[in-house]
Amino acid sequence: MRISNKQRINKSNYESKIVSHSLVSLDPTQRAWIEISGRSIEYNVRKIKSLLTNNCQFMAVVKADGYGHDAKFVSQNAIKGGADNLGVATLKEGLYLRSAGISVPILILGNIYTKKDLLICFQNNLMPTISDIKQCIICNQIGKEYKKSFYVHLKIDTGMSRLGFETNNFVKIFDNIILLKHIKIDGIYSHLSTADELDASNENSFANIQRRNFLQLLSNISIKKYPDIKIHLSNSAGTLLGHNFHFDMVRVGLCMYGYCPSQYQINLKLKPVMSLKSKVSFIRTVENEVGVSYGKNFITNKRTKLAVISIGYADGIYRTLSNKISVIHNGKIYPQIGSITMDQLMIDISGSNDIKIGDTVILLGCSEGKCISPIDWAEAASTITWEILCAFKNRLPRLQV
Ligand SMILES: Cc1ncc(COP(=O)(O)O)c(C=O)c1O
Repeated sequence: MRISNKQRINKSNYESKIVSHSLVSLDPTQRAWIEISGRSIEYNVRKIKSLLTNNCQFMAVVKADGYGHDAKFVSQNAIKGGADNLGVATLKEGLYLRSAGISVPILILGNIYTKKDLLICFQNNLMPTISDIKQCIICNQIGKEYKKSFYVHLKIDTGMSRLGFETNNFVKIFDNIILLKHIKIDGIYSHLSTADELDASNENSFANIQRRNFLQLLSNISIKKYPDIKIHLSNSAGTLLGHNFHFDMVRVGLCMYGYCPSQYQINLKLKPVMSLKSKVSFIRTVENEVGVSYGKNFITNKRTKLAVISIGYADGIYRTLSNKISVIHNGKIYPQIGSITMDQLMIDISGSNDIKIGDTVILLGCSEGKCISPIDWAEAASTITWEILCAFKNRLPRLQV
C-alpha cells in the first residue's frame, strides 16, 4: 500500500511526539546517574586558594567536560569559589563555555594552529596556547586585521616533551615575539611531568629541575621587564609542592574535583564532588558452584543471593574492574562479582534482607561513614584517577545536588 505524503508527515509527527514525551517524563534516577555537588567544588577551590598568596590566581581546569563532571556546572561553581580563569583542552570546549554565558578568561591548553581556528579563538575571546613562532605570526596577522590585540599564552617545554617552545630556541626568538604589536602575551607557562612522585619535593627531583629550568629561562628573557605577563607552571600536584611552584597562577584540575593527586602529599581534606549511583533492578539466589556472568570467571562457593545493578562498562566502568570493586547500601559494603557486562553488574548480597528491587546503591561516594573513591578504582585497574573520572559516558545523567 502506498503512503501519501500527508500520512508520512503525520506518522513522523506522531513518532517524534512519543519520543519527546517519554524523554521528558523519564526519571533521571531510573537506572544509573552521577550526582555533582556544586558546594564541594566551591569548597575545594577556597581550600586550595588558602594555600596561595593573595596575588596568585587560580585557573580551574575544566577540560574533558570538567573531568566528566559537567564543565558548565563546574565552571560556575569554581567561579563562585574564587577561580579567576578557566582552562579547557579544545576550541569546542571553550566555545561551549562562552555560549553558556561564562565570561572569565579561558585558556585553551591544547594546540590550536590553523588560521581558521585561531580566528575563532580570537572572535570568542579565547586564549590559545602558542608553541611555535608560526602561530605567533598568524595571531599577529589576525590582531592586525581586526585592529585589536590577540591575547595568547606562550608555552615552554621544560621537560614534558609535549607542547611548548624548546627553551634555548625560545630565549633567542623572544625579542622578536615581543615586537609583534598585535599580540598581547597574557601568560608564559610550562607543565610539570612528575610533580606527583615520591621525591617531588626534594631539591633534586625532576619537578625541581623543571622549575629551575623555567626560572632560568624567565631570567634569560628578563621577565621582570614585563610585569603584566602571568607566569604559571603547576597542576594540582605542583600546587601542593608549595609557594616556589605557584608563580602568578596555578592550574588546578584533580584537587578541585576533591582528590589528591599523590599519596605522598599533604592531605587537604578536600570534598569529592562526584557520587556514582545506580539502582537494583533484579534479585535472585543461585546455588553453590554456579558461574556468575560472562565467562563464568566467578564461581559461587556457597548458595549466593545476587542483586543485579543497572550499570556497566557502556557507562564507563572499566571491565578490568570486575571482581575488584564494591558498592555501598545503607552503610554496608557489598562486593561486585563476575564480569562487569555492558549495562549491568552483579553484587553478592548474601545474608542481607534489607536490599530490594528499586533500591539505590553507591558505587563511588560516601554513606554513613563508608566511602569508595575513584582513587580505589584507579589502583584496582592499574590506572590513574583522572582516567577513571573521564571515562564516564553521557548515558549517565549528571544531577546537580
Ligand atoms: C597543561 C595542564 N595544566 C594543568 C592540568 C591540570 O592537572 P591536574 O588535574 O593534575 O591538576 C592539566 C591536566 O592534565 C594540563 O594538561
